[in-house]
Amino acid sequence: MKKRAPRPQYTARTADKQILYQNSVQAPDAEVAFCRRIYKKRYGVEATLFREDFCGTFLISCDWVKRGPKNQAWGIDLDQPTLDWGRKHNLSKLKPALQKRVHILNQNVLDVTKPKMHIVGAFNFSYFIFKSPVELIAYFSKVRKSLAPKSIFVVDAYGGYDSQKVMQDTRKCEGFTYIWDQAEYNPLTDETLCHIHFHFPDGTRMRKAFTYDWRLWTLGGIRDAMKAAGFRETEAYWEGTMNNGEGDGIFRKAERAENCGAWTAYIVGIP
Ligand SMILES: C[S@@+](CC[C@H](N)C(=O)[O-])C[C@H]1O[C@@H](n2cnc3c(N)ncnc32)[C@H](O)[C@@H]1O
Repeated sequence: MKKRAPRPQYTARTADKQILYQNSVQAPDAEVAFCRRIYKKRYGVEATLFREDFCGTFLISCDWVKRGPKNQAWGIDLDQPTLDWGRKHNLSKLKPALQKRVHILNQNVLDVTKPKMHIVGAFNFSYFIFKSPVELIAYFSKVRKSLAPKSIFVVDAYGGYDSQKVMQDTRKCEGFTYIWDQAEYNPLTDETLCHIHFHFPDGTRMRKAFTYDWRLWTLGGIRDAMKAAGFRETEAYWEGTMNNGEGDGIFRKAERAENCGAWTAYIVGIP
């Protein structure tokens, strides 16, 4: 009989917050599968050139290069220590031939427009740091300039009336508990302050492991900003639900949806 891997023994003192983040928040294979599906459906061929904006530890870029021998990925992030962590823990796990196809740029996403991409993605709501329409449109315009003729821009978003509440959402993960803390929401500006905390079986806690000072953009606002930035078309992809009301992980193109308390969605911009 195959032995089960031992349960990780995390504590606040010993745990690496990037490992906890990747294990609780990220699903690189799902993001990559979504991007590839939408691109193939529109253009009938596989995308090969992919850019991950706000890439952090560039887990999605590392997944992208596994999906095809010609695939190349560019990851952009301002934070050098986070990029270094990604090199040590994610890039090093790829075969050398794959590692060569991952290009990491320690730059501002507002300063990069080359090389031209088939797909640019911004995930885990990172572009919510741009709080005004002017800033958001400036970023989307840079992305627009970074795109090849046959290309798409993919962003995710979250929302629903629960996202405007000061509340905490707790989820059990393998060896720790993940807490999403919506600490502040200002109805006059749509600004929100959120934290991620991690709690451990031995009772220790890692408070404010990550903090996000964001504007909670609506899907309508994001689509308007993409159009203002020169995108010809935008598409919204809404998640289906299982019998228990939970999301089923399958995102379908939609123009009307049920107004539920909490949702995530994708918006795709077509240049
Ligand atoms: C929420 S994390 C996202 C990590 C990863 N994309 C994910 O899907 O989980 C946001 C990242 O954006 C980076 N960042 C913030 N502003 C940036 C900018 N203007 N240009 C590039 N990276 C930026 C931060 O350093 C941080 O690593």
